[in-house]
Amino acid sequence: MDPETIYILAIESSCDDTSAAVLRNNKTLSNVVATQKIHEAYGGVVPELASRAHQRNIVPAVHQALTIANIDKKQLSAIAFTRGPGLMGSLLVGTSFAKSLALGLGLPLIEVNHMQAHILAHFIEDEKKKMPEFPFLAMTISGGHTQIVRVNNFFDMAVLGQTLDDAVGEAFDKSAKILGLPYPGGPLVDRYAQLGNPKAFQFPKPKVEGLDFSFSGLKTSILYFIERETKRNANFINENLNDICASIQYTIVEILMDKLKKAVKKTGITQVAIGGGVSANSGIRRALKDAESKYGWTTYIPKFEYCTDNAAMIGIVGYLKFREAKFTDATISVKARYTL
Ligand code: KG4
Ligand code: ZN
Repeated sequence: MDPETIYILAIESSCDDTSAAVLRNNKTLSNVVATQKIHEAYGGVVPELASRAHQRNIVPAVHQALTIANIDKKQLSAIAFTRGPGLMGSLLVGTSFAKSLALGLGLPLIEVNHMQAHILAHFIEDEKKKMPEFPFLAMTISGGHTQIVRVNNFFDMAVLGQTLDDAVGEAFDKSAKILGLPYPGGPLVDRYAQLGNPKAFQFPKPKVEGLDFSFSGLKTSILYFIERETKRNANFINENLNDICASIQYTIVEILMDKLKKAVKKTGITQVAIGGGVSANSGIRRALKDAESKYGWTTYIPKFEYCTDNAAMIGIVGYLKFREAKFTDATISVKARYTL
């Protein structure tokens, strides 16, 4: 074995996906994600059920990640895990597991900030994709976060703006709930939006200063709009689902792109990356791609498997930290609120 080769086992359990991955240096060998279906029936993530499902899933997920990677535990160089932000009980499962395994195998432990990982996922090696150059702007758009970040270096990031209320993923999911779609509704809104007219209905864009965001007003206006229209026609949602979804998605993408344009203007940085679950959205992916020819930006859009929560993104941070000997000891505790 090449002595320079680093093998990282990474564990992610911050919300409702249990994930384990193995990386050889900056390359993914395996990335196993066990999505918890149990929350669908409740219309949102139930924290206590999430921790229990993590407990059930974590051993098989790790076992599968090692098997797919064809790596023996003894070959590992370190174990990386999500310390936060996320749900306390969920984080505890992954963190305790990582700590015990590291102790048992005598391996160093590396703690990872989940939001940093969504950004640094762009540094996972992939022949088909270029990597961002520093400094670049990253917009993290997920179920829990909406931020614009100036990334100066791997571990030097500054938040330039963020949501004052709901995260953009919540805006998608709550809109979907109003339309009677199951949780998580974001991907469904996206699917129907692709068949509809984005200009069919107009929703107001929030007026928020600077680079901050707000999505709660949009949710309320969608709710009032649907209530009004279904009073007139009980079948309104069924008859117009594609157009409603397309119009909601169009408005959300406009809100995101307006702020990104502002951030580029303010910083003079034209390298723009996105990360987090909502970067799987077809509307934002298209808008970002178009910005290359329209505004001369260089854009970085994650591969689908690195958009929503996954352990490979935790693994790349593990690798980058390993190179700088940024280890942690076993007394470390989880951090449900963990800023960049
Ligand atoms: O990053 P992520 O997997 O978990 C968090 O850290 O929150 O993001 C999940 C969020 C959910 O709100 C989900 O509805 C949204 O990402 N999402 C989407 C799409 N795929 C996932 N939203 C809109 N369009 C999509 N295609
Ligand atoms: Zn996430």
